[in-house]
Amino acid sequence: MAGYNSRRIDRWTFRGPERLRETRRRRPQGWSRRKDAQMGYIKGLGYIGIGAEDIDAWREFGTTVLGLQIGDASEAEDTLYLRMDSRTYRLAVHPGANGEVRYFGYEIGSHQDLAAFADLLRQRGIDLVEESPDVCAVRRVAAMRSTTDPMGNRIEFFVGHEESTAPFVSPTGASFVIGDMGIGHAFMTCTDIDEFRHFYLDQLGFKLSDTVSLVPGNATYFLHCNPRHHTLASVAVPGAPPMLHHIMFQVDSLDTVGYAQDNGSAALDLTIGRHTNDHMVSCFFKSPSGVCIEYGIDGRRIDDDDAWVVSHYTAASSWGHARPAATA
Ligand SMILES: [Fe+2]
Repeated sequence: MAGYNSRRIDRWTFRGPERLRETRRRRPQGWSRRKDAQMGYIKGLGYIGIGAEDIDAWREFGTTVLGLQIGDASEAEDTLYLRMDSRTYRLAVHPGANGEVRYFGYEIGSHQDLAAFADLLRQRGIDLVEESPDVCAVRRVAAMRSTTDPMGNRIEFFVGHEESTAPFVSPTGASFVIGDMGIGHAFMTCTDIDEFRHFYLDQLGFKLSDTVSLVPGNATYFLHCNPRHHTLASVAVPGAPPMLHHIMFQVDSLDTVGYAQDNGSAALDLTIGRHTNDHMVSCFFKSPSGVCIEYGIDGRRIDDDDAWVVSHYTAASSWGHARPAATA
């Protein structure tokens, strides 16, 4: 059976979606009907910051395999900023530990919405930190409030991400699919799936897309905050520290994915295949810092949330997504 992308995940023990219906029935206090219809305050994943021991290797991988463009360095000259579109950066690679998550940046549509979201989260038990102009300048946003999720990740809600004055030109000709869906998705492990669901579904206002159980009794939860099928996914791995397993970037051409896979300079974690739930055709690279990068096309959209029906799957992939060693 095609599964998620590491031996570690193969060993996971999954638990079932016992409280799924209960979670969907609850409408938290203070929830705005207008915002509910508009998918809440979070527009999408706007940027990600990770750590890496070898910045030069990440620069080579990011440009020649993924087709990301090097952005300008600002105050943090030792940080690698990578562009996917008109924004000054979408992925920041900081000198640090391999596998480290520095921050996830979620975009809010306006300053008024950022303040209203902060008020709503306060009612739900989360007090956001209003970040200083200096912090905002480093991140190149107009305003930012932050918190920490149950897995210990720094979560930033921002308004006004800086646009570059230079056009985006991919070194490989890649064109990234962002639009109204944010830059992609993140797949993380957690120690307690109930904590994950409470934070992201009940408090932040994400919605459940579907669940996948590779082993009966434990489910991976896929959540959306815009038409992208999922912006976030997580599964409980009790006893293991939470980790960022992969980040997904979507491009607009199967050829771009194929050429990247054939590049040969990056190790593949999984060969090309199609996922069951989001329909993404993708391959997975092992980045120089250990975090996998899913690189794909044709991700499914959820345009009408009222019409969406939450499904449950027992396999991650319809075809492909084989480990390279198995195909040798
Ligand atoms: Fe993924």
